Amino acid sequence: MNSTTDKYHRHPKLRIQEQHGTHAYRAYRAIPDDFPVHFLLGTPVVLITTENEDGTSNIAPMSSAWWLGNRCMLGLGAISQTTINLIRTKQCVLNLASDNMAGAVNALARTTGSKEMITASEGTGYLYFKRMNGYKYVPDKFGHSGLTPADSDLIRPPRIAECPAQMEAELKGVNEMMQDAEMKGFIALEVKVLRTHVHENIRMSGHANRIDPDKWHPLIMSFQELYGLGRKKTCESILAKISEEGYRPFSNPVDDEVTTEKEE
Ligand SMILES: Cc1cc2nc3c(=O)[nH]c(=O)nc-3n(C[C@H](O)[C@H](O)[C@H](O)COP(=O)(O)O)c2cc1C
Repeated sequence: MNSTTDKYHRHPKLRIQEQHGTHAYRAYRAIPDDFPVHFLLGTPVVLITTENEDGTSNIAPMSSAWWLGNRCMLGLGAISQTTINLIRTKQCVLNLASDNMAGAVNALARTTGSKEMITASEGTGYLYFKRMNGYKYVPDKFGHSGLTPADSDLIRPPRIAECPAQMEAELKGVNEMMQDAEMKGFIALEVKVLRTHVHENIRMSGHANRIDPDKWHPLIMSFQELYGLGRKKTCESILAKISEEGYRPFSNPVDDEVTTEKEE
């Protein structure tokens, strides 16, 4: 038995289950009270803008996001207004926050653009959790956060002017997570970045298309707390000896014409 399985077996709740004849494999499925419920180790805060059904804009802070080439995977609650909007319109902007934007992020935290949350009853999962945990229904997230909308080039949801990197993106894949479990409700959404806007002051000098990590300090969420990155590199990176341009073949071409419809 390795130390992880040993930990599960030592947990008092599980010992009680075993005394009452519960089969051992059930023990592996439970999360003991002395185990962390999540491992949100530190990922960038993304402010996702989407379009509501009535044509207004929604903003949601999120951080379960990672990129490969020009694709990004987003982990979102299925009932979030953002998820509903993104699945309906197939469009969003990924606006990356800097570590001096914590005020706006905190203003958006524990808000939702979902009106249904106000009357959510027990048994409605994450919606009820939000209601019980002090979330507020906020229809005008731009006004509420003081952030400034800027028109996108290719899609309808606006960019957030204050964010140093903004990616116009299109939905390409929807994967329901936790399909093997009773408790579902999270979706992994794959989006394709169609166009990226970058503030001049975070560009790497001498390069047409690189961001300088010494100049940009993204906001990071780690275990629900907000951090910045250290102002200095820890050490020289061996990986960084590979030219960034060498990865370009892994980005799929972006068509000039966006494939979702854009009304005039
Ligand atoms: C810093 C931060 C990070 C968050 N990360 C996520 C996340 O990765 N996935 C998620 O579903 N919700 C995340 N949330 C919670 C959402 O913001 C929350 O569900 C919100 O109500 C969504 O808004 P909407 O319903 O208007 O789309 C995060 C909140 C904050 C403040």
